[in-house]
Amino acid sequence: MHVFITGASGHVGSALVPELLAHGHTVTGLARSDESAARLTGWGAEAVRGDLDDLDALDTAARAADGVVHLAFRHDAMQAGDLQGAAASDLAALEVLGSALAGTDKPLVGTSGTGLLAMAAPGRLGTEDVVLPGGYRVDAENFVVGLADKQVRSSVVRLPPTVHSDLDHHGFVPALIGFAREHGVSTYVGEGTNRWPAVHTRDAAHLYRLALESAPAGSRLHAVGDEGIELRRIAEAIGRGLDVPVRSIDAEAAPAHVGFLASFVSLDNPTSAVRTREVLGWEPTHPGLLDDLAAGFYFGER
Ligand SMILES: NC(=O)c1ccc[n+]([C@@H]2O[C@H](COP(=O)([O-])OP(=O)(O)OC[C@H]3O[C@@H](n4cnc5c(N)ncnc54)[C@H](OP(=O)(O)O)[C@@H]3O)[C@@H](O)[C@H]2O)c1
Repeated sequence: MHVFITGASGHVGSALVPELLAHGHTVTGLARSDESAARLTGWGAEAVRGDLDDLDALDTAARAADGVVHLAFRHDAMQAGDLQGAAASDLAALEVLGSALAGTDKPLVGTSGTGLLAMAAPGRLGTEDVVLPGGYRVDAENFVVGLADKQVRSSVVRLPPTVHSDLDHHGFVPALIGFAREHGVSTYVGEGTNRWPAVHTRDAAHLYRLALESAPAGSRLHAVGDEGIELRRIAEAIGRGLDVPVRSIDAEAAPAHVGFLASFVSLDNPTSAVRTREVLGWEPTHPGLLDDLAAGFYFGER
């Protein structure tokens, strides 16, 4: 299959591109800079130059492909507080990709997050059949699933807050480590019994490939290896890795300790992938988050 990927040069893409090439697919990735284009060609993919807002480029590349994976997201806009702008670009890009594939039965795999489930119902075990009515990134998820009615074999992969591995340089785990290093203390909120699910980057990439190859139209899929790890245990692993003390803090103190992660560190987000495993035969085989934290690579020069 010839696959067009937006965001191919990013963290998840750095595992997905090699995964697809190793299984006989060819890849063209969207690249908005020379550096991103060079990464893609270095891995053996082709690069097509363009920004996420360059809708003509998206349309042309999607029409030339046998399947599409949408990973790009304007994290820079999101981190600057422009959530609406980032979500609007995401949806506009998906509308173009979806209309390019409409009527073809070709696969389109979109990306969402398990954290959205916790924001809607904290502590409830998130399953693939939970459908949220709308909102930030949820509108995009629901749009992709709805493309099944337009003869697109669409699916959405919900990623946990922590996609972890040696390929992870700027996700939530390196951010937590950076804050703990900066403040000389690794923190959790309250008892720290709230949970985050997690997945190894290469297991997530495997799931994206299976989704492309065979997910039924309209699937919601969970890329979840660890169903839920208590934040206290994550903080303790970071404390050990950095050799700094570990401390409970109040939720009000979280912004001073973990900056932009303040609203996430209290999330209780246990998430199941039972249905995903059943439907696609996906089995995570790589280390879990606590094993990756114990391995040490997150704490050295990277
Ligand atoms: N990793 C996680 O822990 C996690 C968790 C939940 C959800 N997600 C979602 O999963 C998807 C992939 O995440 P990731 O961790 O791989 O992200 P990432 O490492 O930040 O990579 C983002 C990718 O999007 C591209 N991109 C950003 N803005 C763009 C723009 N305006 N035009 C074109 N390309 C643009 C980047 O290109 P450059 O290489 O040029 O910067 C990069 O290839 C995103 O939707 C993310 O929100 C990730």
